[in-house]
Amino acid sequence: MKRRVKNNVSWVGYIDWELETFHGDDYSIRHGSSQNAYLIEEEKTVLIDTVWTPHRFDFVENLKSEIDLSKIDFIVANHGECDHSGSLTALTDEIPTCPIYCTQNAVKSIEGQYGKRGWDFHVVKTGDSIDIGNGKKLVFVEMQMLHWPDSMATYLTGDNILFSNDAFGQHFAVEELFNDKADQCVLFHEAMKYYANILMPFSSILKRKLQEIASLDLVFDMIAPSHGVIWRDNPTQIIEKYASWCDDYKENQVTIVYDTMWNGTEKIAHAISEEIAKEDPEVVVKVFSIAKSDKNEVMTEVMKSKAIALGSPTVGRSILSSVAGWTEFLKQLRFTGKKAGAFGCYGWSGESVKILQGLLKDAGFDVIEETIFSNWNPDEEDLSKVPVFAKSLLS
Ligand code: FEO
Repeated sequence: MKRRVKNNVSWVGYIDWELETFHGDDYSIRHGSSQNAYLIEEEKTVLIDTVWTPHRFDFVENLKSEIDLSKIDFIVANHGECDHSGSLTALTDEIPTCPIYCTQNAVKSIEGQYGKRGWDFHVVKTGDSIDIGNGKKLVFVEMQMLHWPDSMATYLTGDNILFSNDAFGQHFAVEELFNDKADQCVLFHEAMKYYANILMPFSSILKRKLQEIASLDLVFDMIAPSHGVIWRDNPTQIIEKYASWCDDYKENQVTIVYDTMWNGTEKIAHAISEEIAKEDPEVVVKVFSIAKSDKNEVMTEVMKSKAIALGSPTVGRSILSSVAGWTEFLKQLRFTGKKAGAFGCYGWSGESVKILQGLLKDAGFDVIEETIFSNWNPDEEDLSKVPVFAKSLLS
């Protein structure tokens, strides 16, 4: 169903209330999501993006119920990932000669996924624009690596709407579409979770892109991403958030992540948590048993943290697979400006803490020398090292 966004701009996307995971099973969805597509009906009729492949036939049928598809003058494909390009095949089965405006890399990703189907691609670069009549233009801004090499944003002059695609999005289903209608607490949590788990590795690129966008002196009446709410109430607040998130973001928080076999490493995790709270009552401390936790939510907590502590017992001359898998994900996200410390128990050989320190260094953390490393169950002597460890993490 077409819904008015502003003037002749409508939302024609799909609200995915049932979605439980995204990117396969790699991203947990707690509050639904949406794939936002937009229809602009000026002298030219333009479709901005489509929806995910499983919904392609509904998408095309809905669109048909709103307009004669042959009236679409062109499609803008801001990004080739299938949650936005996944209906292009069904759509171009109906309108095979409809031009598609996208980046050179999007040609590669769309053809790579769906094959060469005689698409009428028109490659655009930053600053290119198209007149759509009634004094309005679409201006393209390449958003390379935000978060794919093919990503771009499209700005509609006159209405001053930035169709930002994934940037500024959230996996959050909101029936009323707009940010002022959403639960603000959930909205900002989901925006941060999206940033932590998807955009964090590209923070330095994002920082430069935000400066570039600022230098264009654009007015933003709305920022309309491809997931979650449309920012219409104080739309630049999400740009301000991104500006702080891409710049070594941290709050006064320490996050402790561990897994345990016979509760020895768990005992150390709890001792560190209690000590940090005692040492600095202002700091927020959170503890996660990673095998039992949602890894994406834990990454969001890491984003908020100024330091983390990571624990595993030694097993098979290494660390527990739950910690190893999570740490590989941690490395991919390339957090910067954070401290980390390692702890764990061992029975026979005792490699885990050294391995954890190496992994944390590889992941870009400033690793403290102090460790808590306990042979068998942590005893008083082992736990006597906790205050020094905690102080070093907090300093
Ligand atoms: Fe929402 Fe990168 O796709």
